[in-house]
Amino acid sequence: MKSENGFINTLTQLCLICVFCLAKLHGLEQNTYSNVEGNADDSLPGKLKFAHVIFRHGDRMPVDPYPTDPWNNQTFWPARWGQLTNRGKRQHYELGKWLRKRYNALLGATYDRQQIFVQSTDVDRTLMSAQSNLAGFYEPEGSDIWNEDLKWQPIPVHTKPEKDDPVLAAKAPCSAFDYALSALQSSPEYQAKVERYKYLFDYLSQHSGRMVETFLDINYINNTLFIETLYNKTLPEWTKKVYGSADMTYATNFAFSVNTMTRQLARLKVGPLLKEIFNRFVDKSQGKLTPDRNMWIYSAHDTTIANVLNGLNMFQLHSPPYTACIMMEMRVDDYNNSLISIFYKNSSAEPLPMNIPGCGVSCPLNTLLRLYSDYLPVDWERECKLSTMMLTYEEANIGAATGILIFIIIILLCASYALMIYYRRRNYHLYSSSYAQMA
Ligand SMILES: *[C@@H]1O[C@H](CO)[C@@H](O)[C@H](O)[C@H]1NC(C)=O
Ligand SMILES: *[C@@H]1O[C@H](CO)[C@@H](O)[C@H](O)[C@H]1NC(C)=O
Ligand SMILES: *[C@@H]1O[C@H](CO)[C@@H](O)[C@H](O)[C@H]1NC(C)=O
Ligand SMILES: *[C@@H]1O[C@H](CO)[C@@H](O)[C@H](O)[C@H]1NC(C)=O
Ligand SMILES: *[C@@H]1O[C@H](CO)[C@@H](O)[C@H](O)[C@H]1NC(C)=O
Repeated sequence: MKSENGFINTLTQLCLICVFCLAKLHGLEQNTYSNVEGNADDSLPGKLKFAHVIFRHGDRMPVDPYPTDPWNNQTFWPARWGQLTNRGKRQHYELGKWLRKRYNALLGATYDRQQIFVQSTDVDRTLMSAQSNLAGFYEPEGSDIWNEDLKWQPIPVHTKPEKDDPVLAAKAPCSAFDYALSALQSSPEYQAKVERYKYLFDYLSQHSGRMVETFLDINYINNTLFIETLYNKTLPEWTKKVYGSADMTYATNFAFSVNTMTRQLARLKVGPLLKEIFNRFVDKSQGKLTPDRNMWIYSAHDTTIANVLNGLNMFQLHSPPYTACIMMEMRVDDYNNSLISIFYKNSSAEPLPMNIPGCGVSCPLNTLLRLYSDYLPVDWERECKLSTMMLTYEEANIGAATGILIFIIIILLCASYALMIYYRRRNYHLYSSSYAQMA
């Protein structure tokens, strides 16, 4: 029995070491930020059939001012922390009007649930942004007019609790993601970057009354200072040394790329959303989408915008502004080819179709699927769990081998357990029949 247990332990250890080494080998290839080139020629081939729109909420209040912030008191602000402001509502109302013009051909004048679906993260400002947007998008006309005094009609906005929403909120727990992220953060390249900005971490920790240890921590302080500037609040003297500097802006923007920096991180963080959208394009192109909708709207965050763009290898390091809006459109040409174009509206200017790396501004759906197949999880929940064995989808080929090893270990464990029971029983029978009733 002893030696058998020893054997199992050794086998388990060997197995773990082996898996660990392979996981390390597979390492941390960085995404490169491809250059995004607008194309002045907007006359894309084919006829617009389907659009997915993902936008960031509008103007909001600081979410969580730093402890020493002189403006760290609700009474200085027109709305509560993190809430959408009236300015934010107006911004989205305007975007809604703009989107209606762009997609008028996809939708009837009156609201029809078979044509459009709207989904928001379960956060006040994104829910309110979606509603402000829809006020502009679906100003009631004809039979939708229900109150002569109100140029507004209710439009459903769907949502899910954040912890249950791996797709849009992307905050559902995923241990494989956490593992891969800490591996990235302890890599020499990443550590070198932390070292490069160490003075900034130290300086901000010293003055903000809060430990600033990650690029995201810098991002949050930058954001509070940015909003205070927008609201004409005088910033404390110490901020002048860092706020607005190339370093602080870079560190802030860099934070937006971290969660999708490797293929694996992108796959686990934004893969579910990309997969959902791509699958819908496929269903639509095959005439299988039910209901056969023409439009999907997602209301979300700056991080969503950054994750989607970086997941597509189309992110230029920047802070996505209020109401930043990604449009993924499907056109169908005369030969029944489905073509995908991606636009990024990051200002009041008309957006241009972006270059999809390796495919151009008008990318055949099949090519798109092939190009991004590694970024689309097959079974997200399962891929998230594999981290307990430090496995990832990239080790799929050794996944089978590991499976067999685990199987053998389980068999051995069962066998040793059976043996143990067998010997115990025999002993009981031999030496103390009175114990028998306890079996
Ligand atoms: C915020 O300001 C109000 C009004 O000046 C004051 O009564 C309150 O104590 C302040 N709150 C905090 C947390 O400082
Ligand atoms: C950080 O500050 C810069 C201006 O200094 C601003 O352009 C950028 O949008 C800010 N980013 C965030 C996330 O607040
Ligand atoms: C800040 O000041 C500028 C210039 O005076 C003004 O246009 C802007 O509306 C002010 N912003 C707010 C939020 O009051
Ligand atoms: C285009 O493809 C769809 C799905 O495969 C099919 O239903 C439709 O009939 C095709 N249209 C033409 C004109 O070939
Ligand atoms: C903003 O959008 C324009 C046009 O859509 C695009 O060319 C530009 O690269 C975008 N800027 C960033 C930072 O992504």
